[in-house]
Amino acid sequence: MRKVKTLGLLGTGVIGGGWAARALHFGIDVIAADVKPEMEAWIRGAVANAEPALARLTFAPLPPKGTLSFTTDLRTMAERADFIQENIPEQLALKQRMLAEVSRYAGTDVIIASSTSGLTPTDLQRDMVAPERFLVAHPFNPVYLLPLVELVGGARTAPTAIDAAAEFFVYIGMHALKVRREVPGHLTDRLQEAIWREILHLVNDGVATTGELDESIIYGPGLRWAAMGTNMIYHLAGGEAGMRHMLAQFGPALKWPWTKLEAPELTESLIDRMVEGTQAQAAGRSIRELERLRDDYLVAIQQVLRQFDIGAGSTLRLLEERLYNDASTAHTGDAANAEPLRLDLVVRPEWTDYNNHLSDFQYGHLFGCAMDALYRRVGIDAAYRAAGGMFYTVESHVKHHAEAKAGEALYVTTQVLGVDDKRLHVFHRLQRRGDDMLLATGEQMHLHVDTASAKAAPADAAVRGKLEALRAVHAALPAPVDVGRPVGSRAKR
Ligand SMILES: NC(=O)c1ccc[n+]([C@@H]2O[C@H](COP(=O)([O-])OP(=O)(O)OC[C@H]3O[C@@H](n4cnc5c(N)ncnc54)[C@H](O)[C@@H]3O)[C@@H](O)[C@H]2O)c1
Repeated sequence: MRKVKTLGLLGTGVIGGGWAARALHFGIDVIAADVKPEMEAWIRGAVANAEPALARLTFAPLPPKGTLSFTTDLRTMAERADFIQENIPEQLALKQRMLAEVSRYAGTDVIIASSTSGLTPTDLQRDMVAPERFLVAHPFNPVYLLPLVELVGGARTAPTAIDAAAEFFVYIGMHALKVRREVPGHLTDRLQEAIWREILHLVNDGVATTGELDESIIYGPGLRWAAMGTNMIYHLAGGEAGMRHMLAQFGPALKWPWTKLEAPELTESLIDRMVEGTQAQAAGRSIRELERLRDDYLVAIQQVLRQFDIGAGSTLRLLEERLYNDASTAHTGDAANAEPLRLDLVVRPEWTDYNNHLSDFQYGHLFGCAMDALYRRVGIDAAYRAAGGMFYTVESHVKHHAEAKAGEALYVTTQVLGVDDKRLHVFHRLQRRGDDMLLATGEQMHLHVDTASAKAAPADAAVRGKLEALRAVHAALPAPVDVGRPVGSRAKR
């Protein structure tokens, strides 16, 4: 299968727009096709709306953004795309017809995936040319923030197509869940629908309002679900005996039954209750406003989960690992051009203090990120750390030249000043992108340690060699003026 440089989208509504925003953010070009020419303005707006939250999802160095183009001609899209994602309305006959048409124009090595919420891949691939490269790749709204994508193959799908699709989705920061067997509704929508069906019953029977039912989730199970699914949570609920005890205690209730299998009839009065209920919950807030709120907390939750290396937080860590690795090989600082290593960042609002300026302690964080990029560059990765070697920071001196504000794009450059078998002397400059204004400098000494004994120990020879090579090229750079500078206070002691 091809390396994906351009993602083709068929249908640019809510889901197509979400795919575009995610792909562009991670450096993939997008060619979007929709029957309605007015969708060009819509998708550009959707990408712009996604940007503020996406920009805060990770501060790992990103490649340049992809470019977005739009066409109403499906063939143009199919001929230019390396991977095609279909997102047209959920109608089997329409999808079958359009997928068959797309498959005639796209090279047979181009994977074609459908965002369908519940149709099965065997039905969808029926009339396609080279149906073995087709699969269902079911995302979740907002596609640009939620990592889950369910991958489902049909009777004629090649397992290699599923693997190649998974590789692409992981590249753009997603969690590819391979569904073992096609079933209507895949996995997640079956679970979601079971809850929704109960909601409709409880509202229809006048037991609760939509707001009360949402409360029953968001103050309780919803908080648990973000990191552990129902099964793990029930395993914990069973005490020491875990799931076995849980089943013994609550299993009989399944027969009573608490819940109803059939959905209620969608009568006008039920529809009115659902609509009035959710309008009351929205309390005059527009969909856009609520989307911004949702996007902000989705970003924040993923960053918390990242600290625990669990669920979507693990996905974010994996993505960042990949981005740092790519940046440390793609960035400057090689022997050919004597430039310092560079790391690009954007100031997150939560990094600022009450003056809306970057907080003091964040300078250490930013220089730490720059060191992380340097370490990867010279071969200090997870395997190196697991083997017991690492540099520890033993001294830092930060000099502030100007303030940085929330949302500002900055970059850190790192110059290797000196290296011996244990010590690494570096100099960082924090500058503003655009006008290159110098905001701060940081001089640091790092000491290589054997982490098991926490004692100084020589760095691996290959690491030392790479650091030495960087020091040699960086020696050609102008000497930093602040090096060796003491704190310039004249106050009497
Ligand atoms: N909305 C969700 O939460 C969600 C979540 C996951 C998956 N999905 C699935 O994604 C798909 C799209 O859903 P959506 O919510 O984005 O729908 P939508 O109505 O917002 O967008 C559909 C787009 O397809 C375009 N279109 C219609 N016929 C077309 C054709 N022949 N060629 C090109 N474009 C065409 C429409 O103009 C429209 O812009 C559906 O299969 C749906 O089940 C939706």
